[in-house]
Amino acid sequence: MAESMRGLHRTCRCAHLTESMIGQEVTMMGWVQKSRNKGGLIFTDLRDRSGILQILFEEKDCGQEVFEKAARLRSEFVIAVSGIVQSRGKDINAELSTGSIELSARELRILSESEVPPFPIEDGIRTKEELRLKYRYLDLRRPELQKRIMTRARISFLIRRFLTENGFLEIETPTLIKSTPEGARDFLVPSRLHHGSFYALPQSPQLLKQLLMVSGMDRYFQLARCYRDEDLRADRQPEFTQVDMELSFADVEDVLELNERLLQFIFREVCGVELTLPLRRMRWIDAMNDYGSDKPDLRFGMKLMDLTELLRDCGFSVFSDCVREGGIIKGLKLPGGAGMPRKKIDAYTDFVKECGAKGLAYLSLMEDGSCKSSFAKFLREGEKERICEAMRAKAGDLLFLVSDRDRRVVWNSLGALRLSLGRDFSLIDEKAWSFLWVTEFPMFEYSEELGRFQAMHHPFTMPMEEDLPLLDTDPGAVRAKAYDIVLNGTELGGGSVRIHQAEVQERMLEKLGFTRERAMEQFGFLMQAFRYGVPPHAGLAYGLDRLAMWMVGSDTIRDVIAFPKGKDGSDAMMEAPAPVFEEQQLLDLGIVVSDREEAEKD
Ligand code: AMO
Repeated sequence: MAESMRGLHRTCRCAHLTESMIGQEVTMMGWVQKSRNKGGLIFTDLRDRSGILQILFEEKDCGQEVFEKAARLRSEFVIAVSGIVQSRGKDINAELSTGSIELSARELRILSESEVPPFPIEDGIRTKEELRLKYRYLDLRRPELQKRIMTRARISFLIRRFLTENGFLEIETPTLIKSTPEGARDFLVPSRLHHGSFYALPQSPQLLKQLLMVSGMDRYFQLARCYRDEDLRADRQPEFTQVDMELSFADVEDVLELNERLLQFIFREVCGVELTLPLRRMRWIDAMNDYGSDKPDLRFGMKLMDLTELLRDCGFSVFSDCVREGGIIKGLKLPGGAGMPRKKIDAYTDFVKECGAKGLAYLSLMEDGSCKSSFAKFLREGEKERICEAMRAKAGDLLFLVSDRDRRVVWNSLGALRLSLGRDFSLIDEKAWSFLWVTEFPMFEYSEELGRFQAMHHPFTMPMEEDLPLLDTDPGAVRAKAYDIVLNGTELGGGSVRIHQAEVQERMLEKLGFTRERAMEQFGFLMQAFRYGVPPHAGLAYGLDRLAMWMVGSDTIRDVIAFPKGKDGSDAMMEAPAPVFEEQQLLDLGIVVSDREEAEKD
């Protein structure tokens, strides 16, 4: 039978007990990590989120009744113990922060018993993630996860403190809203009161925070829940948290400067890392050309090299035809990689093909001066030497080349290959904190699927003033006042200066293929608001989960989210999503669930 804690008050958490409290009577509460009965002595490790404290039950001190009760203790029982703090003398446990003291028990209450848990509550377990997610509340008891969740709480607290001290107001925005376009699918919520109509869960509070600027709130922030129905990855969840902010009367520099100070502050406080400001910046076009990515990992070098002009008229027709058709050729050098077996080269070839490339040309410069290559035999005299010269390659190096009519294919495939080689050959400095602002993103990207331009960031982003005339003549060349903050090759956050003039906004929506009617239908409330005096404004949002993931040194955001979704987007613990219990709920909403096969046929 579970006992009550009536009349007892916890003195402090386990690891907060110190040598200065030796001789004092205290009451501790927590979970039994383990309990060992050594004849006349029972040693029990008591655990809470602060750490572990050893409890000693000795019959001569605690009496027979308490001793017998202590003999029943099993892992994960919840107990309250009162006793005297005492020194462990020479018998120090260096692994515990409380290793020099222990609690000599006088009273014991078993507040709750526990069945044997499905996996041990300790660090470094190899239990499958599915099982850990099903029993997430037990997984969360493990010290390594507790530490991560506590660090996340500290990060949130420090961000709130910093932004509040810098004049920001924390304002909540609704989560039952109208769709805001951030590029993913919406989660929809049917309305009972408005038959056949749906709310959308926000992909971000983008439009609402802009409206808060129209309201004169001046500086807003929110730790906002966002929802995006997209495929999951290690750094993606269908619901996640943004540190979302917006500033009035601000331009690019204001946002960047403030956020650099914010990052410096939290990294100093949480990780003990001192960031040197200003952070590095790179234009989008340079990031793509040099690293094949809009979020380059600069913890290692290996820039892509451009060979388009050099190979324009070369003997290998795949290359020369590609350049003639407006394509590009780029190369990547793996220093010392010449001995790579053919099988491995084939594996990398398959890898770039998955990224859209048609193939991977290679040139292996052997130490004895010979070379192995998939294309050198087609080159004319001197061309191979010129490639080596351009790529500053020497004996022992391995060169990879990709050409394509679509420069994005070359960027994507070689960018991905660079990362893969960086990992496979341990070229990445794992201790580095490589921050980077990527700026001057293109305003639009062309979607072959839609046959028109799409906003690269979102439709409320301000074009660079000097590019405004290109809106009509060459939309693909218009750059946006948009910026991303990148850490070690991960996009931590992104933002932009917004359009604050109604006519520019209308022009933009028109360019994106919105008819006036559809624009009004979807964003009418924003257009309306823009008639009543809008301050110039700009903002940014971080993925808090991603930020916390890096700050705690984990490689999945699931580790910093208390109750994350599994790989298939479902919640194994609650078993959500699930069919509704009561048919009536669906009837009230006017929803008929069709047969899955039928739906997919349609
Ligand atoms: P964006 O779409 O770039 O910008 O999102 C901002 C940041 O949110 C994080 N993020 C995610 N994190 C986890 N799971 C996801 N599915 C997910 N999707 C995005 C990323 C990303 O950098 N309204 C704009 C911001 C602005 O312009 O102010 C926006 O939402 O870290």
